[in-house]
Amino acid sequence: MVEILVNQQSNIFHLKNDTMSYVIKVEEQGLVSHQYVGSPLVSYEGGRNYPRVDRSFSPNFYAAENRLYSRDTLPQEFSSYGSGDFRTTGVKVKQANGSNVVDFRFDSYELLDGKPPLEGLPHFYSDQAKTLIIKLKDRLINGLTLCLLYSIFPEGAIVRSTKILNNSQECLTIEKIDSLQLDFVDADYELVSLPGAWANERQLKREPLESGIKMLRSERGSSSHQQNPFGALLRKETNEFQGEVFGFSLVYSGSFQFTFEKEQYDQLRLNIGMNEQQFSWELQPNASFQTPEVIMVYSDQGLNGMSAVFHQMTKDCLLRGKYKKKERPILVNNWEATYFDFDEGAINQLIDEAGDLGIELFVLDDGWFGKREDDRTSLGDWEINEQKLPNGLTKMIAHGAERKVAFGLWFEPEMVSEDSHLFRNHPEWVLQVPGREKSRSRDQFVLDFSRKDVREHIYQKMQVILSQNEISYVKWDMNRHLSEVYSVGRLSANQGETHHRYVLGLYDFLEKLTTEFPKVLFESCSGGGGRFDLGMLYYMPQTWTSDNTDAVARLKIQYATSLLYPTVTMGAHISDVPNHQTQRITSLEMRGHVAMSGTFGYELDLTAISKEEKQEISQQITFYKQHRQLIQYGQFYRLLSPFEGNDCAWMFVSPDQSQCLVFYYNVLERASAPFRILKLAGLSESAVYTNQELGSFSGSELMCSGFYTSVIKKGDFRSECYYFERSEGKR
Ligand code: GLA
Repeated sequence: MVEILVNQQSNIFHLKNDTMSYVIKVEEQGLVSHQYVGSPLVSYEGGRNYPRVDRSFSPNFYAAENRLYSRDTLPQEFSSYGSGDFRTTGVKVKQANGSNVVDFRFDSYELLDGKPPLEGLPHFYSDQAKTLIIKLKDRLINGLTLCLLYSIFPEGAIVRSTKILNNSQECLTIEKIDSLQLDFVDADYELVSLPGAWANERQLKREPLESGIKMLRSERGSSSHQQNPFGALLRKETNEFQGEVFGFSLVYSGSFQFTFEKEQYDQLRLNIGMNEQQFSWELQPNASFQTPEVIMVYSDQGLNGMSAVFHQMTKDCLLRGKYKKKERPILVNNWEATYFDFDEGAINQLIDEAGDLGIELFVLDDGWFGKREDDRTSLGDWEINEQKLPNGLTKMIAHGAERKVAFGLWFEPEMVSEDSHLFRNHPEWVLQVPGREKSRSRDQFVLDFSRKDVREHIYQKMQVILSQNEISYVKWDMNRHLSEVYSVGRLSANQGETHHRYVLGLYDFLEKLTTEFPKVLFESCSGGGGRFDLGMLYYMPQTWTSDNTDAVARLKIQYATSLLYPTVTMGAHISDVPNHQTQRITSLEMRGHVAMSGTFGYELDLTAISKEEKQEISQQITFYKQHRQLIQYGQFYRLLSPFEGNDCAWMFVSPDQSQCLVFYYNVLERASAPFRILKLAGLSESAVYTNQELGSFSGSELMCSGFYTSVIKKGDFRSECYYFERSEGKR
C-alpha cells in the first residue's frame, strides 16, 4: 500500500506505506517543516505544532509580527544558505552580484503516479510508487525554482532528490545542492557507518552522536573503500532484531558527504549529497540541475528489518537486465592463481580443471592486453597482448565452450598507464592541472571521463573486443582515486563541474555498454570493494566485495556489507592458503561457507591442488548449485555479529519459508568453552522444520529456543552449515 494524503486546509502532506509515515507541513512564511517520520500513522491531524517561542540569536522574519518563529530552529525539509538558518543548509547559489544567499519558500506541489526516472543518473524505479514534488521559489531571483522530490515505495522506502531550475535571466552558479535534508526533533540516536580501507572495507562502526558536526564523506572521486555512502541512525536499545532505525544511502559513485549536526537545542539535522568541496555548477538561464537520489529506510524491527527493505528495494527496484533475477554463475578467476604470469596453455589448463569441477565461468583477469607484464604499463591499450596470447582469445573461448565453461574478461577502462600508446598519443586526456605535477597511484593516471571524446575512444576499443569475442562476463575495475581534478579544455568557470561530470560520464558509458551488450554479466570492482554502491549496482548487478579473501576477514566485511547490499550482489571467492592478504590458514570448509554466502567463485590455482581438495571443491559446487536460488534470492538474516564476539552466524530463508540454510563460524577455539545456542529468524512459527542430523523443530522453537552448535568439532577457524526443510503435514 502507498498513499500520499494531502490536507489542503492544514497544508499537510502525509506519505504512507505499510512500514512508515512521513509528514510535511507548509508553515507561516512558506517554510516547509518536517513533522514526523516513523511507524505508519492511521492519519495525521497536526495537533503537534512546533512550539512558538522566542529563542535568542535565532533570527525572525522581517514581515512577522513576533519573535516566536525562526528558521534557525524549525525542523525543515530543506533550508537555504545565508537567510538566518545557521545550521547546515542544503542549497547555496552564487549570483551575478556576488551574493550566495538564497531564500526558498513554498510555491506549489504536484503528485505523480510511479517514480520518475532521473536522466543520466542511476535511480530506483517502480510503477507502484507514488511521487510528491514540492516546489519552492526563491524570494528574490524571479524564476529560480527548487523542487523536492519524494517517492514512496510499497517495498517500504522513500527515495528523495532535489532539482533546481533556472528560469531567470541570470547565469547562476550552484555552490551546494544536497539530495536530502532531514530534521529530527531529538538527537538521541547512535550512528552506524561503514568506514574502511583497501582490503578492509566496510568495518561496521557504531557511535553516539555528540554536539556539533559529524561528517561521513569521500573526497576521492569515488564512493571509496574508506567510507561507504551509507549511514544509519539507531536508538540506543536498537539491535539486529528490534528497535527503531533509519538507514540512508546515496545512489552515487563519486565523492559524497553525510553531515549529522546536533545543534544547540539537541535537535538533529542530516544532510546528504555530493561532496560540496568538489562541486560547483554553472546554471545558465533555462537550465536545470538534478541531484543524485537518496534512499531512506525506516524500520522498528532493528537492523535486520532495515536490511530487508534495502535488499528488496535493490533486488526489485534498482537492479536491471538479464541477471536481475537470474542465478549467477559459479566462476573461477585467474588473478591469485597466476597474477600476470600466464599464457594460453596455462589458461586452458585452468579451464580444463574448471570444466571437470562443474565451474560455469572462467574469468581472465588483468594482463591480457598491450604489453602488460606488471601493473606499470599498458592500461588504455585495449588490444590483445600478442606475446602472451598469440592466438588471441578465440581459441581459449572455444576451448571453454567445449567444456561448458563460459568466458569473462577484466577491463580497467577509466585508467591509463604512462607507458602506453594511449598516453603517448593523448597526454591531454588525463585529469591534470596544466603545469602541475600529476600524482601517481599504482603508476597510473585517471582518464578524463568527463570528456566525451575520451569516453568514445575507450568505448570503441571495448566494443571491438566484446563484439568480436564470445564474452559472457566483464569485470570493470578502478584501481586508483582521482587527484588534480581538472579537465583540459574546459572553461575555467566550469572546472568545478569536473568531479560530477566524471561520474556522469562514467554512467553514460555504462548505460551505453550494458544496453549494447545485454547478455554480458557485469561485475564492478575497485581494488576489491572500493566502489560498492547503489549507483554502480544500477548498471552492474554484482560487485567484487574485497580483495581480501581471507575467510576470517571476510566475516566482518560481508556481515557489514549486508547491512544494505543484498548477498546476491556480493562477489565472494575461495582463495588459496596461506591467504595472500593476511597469510592466515583456514580450512577449505570455512572458506567455502563464507564464500558460498555470496555470489560464489574461486580464485586459486586449480591445477595445483590435491585430489582430496578437488573432491571437496566438487562437493561445494554441487551444494552451491543446489542451494543457489535460496542463497541468492532468499531473505538474509544476520544472527551473530563478528564485531561483537568470537563467532558469527547468518542465514537464508526461502520466500515461502519452506527451507533455510544457516552458517555458523567460530573464529578462535577455547578449551572448556560454554555451549553456544543458535536461534534462527524469519521462519514460519507453526511449521515444523527438519535437519537431517539435528532432528525436527517447530519454527517458533528454532527462533525462540534454538539449537546447540556442534560440541564435537574443535579448532580455530571452523564453520558449520545447517539446512532445514519444512516437513509437510507434520506437526
Ligand atoms: C584489483 C582487483 C583485483 C585484480 C587486480 C588486477 O586489485 O580488485 O581483483 O583484478 O586489480 O590488477
